[in-house]
Amino acid sequence: MESQRTFSGIQPSGSLHLGNYLGAIRQWIPLQDEYEAFFSVVDLHAITVPQDPAELRRKTLETAKVYLAAGIDPSKATLFVQSHVPEHTELLWILNTIARMTDLERMTQYKDKSESKENLVGLFDYPVLMAADILLYDTAVVPVGEDQVQHVELARTLARRFNDRFGETFTIPEPRVMKEGARIMGLDDPMKKMSKSAASEYNFIALSDDPEAAKKKIMKAVTDSGSEITYQDDRPALKNLITIYSLLDEKSPQEIVAMYQGKGYADFKRDLAEIIASFLTRFQARLAHISDDDAMKVLRDGAEKARGVASAKMREVRERIGLLP
Ligand code: TYM
Repeated sequence: MESQRTFSGIQPSGSLHLGNYLGAIRQWIPLQDEYEAFFSVVDLHAITVPQDPAELRRKTLETAKVYLAAGIDPSKATLFVQSHVPEHTELLWILNTIARMTDLERMTQYKDKSESKENLVGLFDYPVLMAADILLYDTAVVPVGEDQVQHVELARTLARRFNDRFGETFTIPEPRVMKEGARIMGLDDPMKKMSKSAASEYNFIALSDDPEAAKKKIMKAVTDSGSEITYQDDRPALKNLITIYSLLDEKSPQEIVAMYQGKGYADFKRDLAEIIASFLTRFQARLAHISDDDAMKVLRDGAEKARGVASAKMREVRERIGLLP
């Protein structure tokens, strides 16, 4: 039978930002009606760079609350913390025995992240843990931003390799990226993606930013030369701002360009700043209504449901590779 499952996750490291929301979470919402959905807070991925233990706990719960505030409905989707389902790390180990060093050496995110830090084994192996996350649930569709597509392709490679060697076991997953918003760029540098680990806070708008502070970030965002409002590839800073405007205000880029004919950056930025501030105000109000206890209960129920699926899959995997029952 064809799989009807979707799986995605976000690391509870740094502050979740508009890129995470517009590129990933936003497309999860409709998928929870079409698919059996699993959304995880991937804490074991977060520890591939050093984390403060108390902060990690706080951010893990906060990330789950962000899912809820964004519209993930626990009566439809299973929401859980990755480390609460130990089958993820068990499958990681088994996939490690079929993943090749050369598969991982090609991963661009590792190349970027390892440049400035000690080369940790966990950081190198991180895409195999992500493959385990996806394959455990026989996931058909993986909704992510563009930067994660290469990792989903590794999951496809490992699933095929496992199936070839041990017989049909895993569903081959498909990445799914949004047409618009799959790669929101930094406000301070439109050639780099908006990132939680950016050096400057003027790079991103965090979902937790004070709305007034967020407005200032928009007013300070770099722009391109020229004064007209146009939507084109050779004006990447403006293109990025128009994309954000378009997604939050549900207007097409062309409509926005038409609205600002004969006007300049100042008008455009002022309006965008208002749109973002009002989005953040509404989002944060929803977030404030979710108690720690309620979020913990959702996560406990979610872990139990996820474990049901994951443990059945692991029984099958152990048998396939010849582990003694
Ligand atoms: P993470 O935590 O870096 O990012 C979470 C999601 O946000 C998307 N994203 C963006 N989208 C558009 N513009 C941006 N600037 C931007 N920055 C981030 C990411 O593409 C991602 O969809 N390895 C993953 C987490 C993960 C996962 C998984 C995802 C672990 N296991 C299994 C899917 C399935 C990561 O680090 O994402």
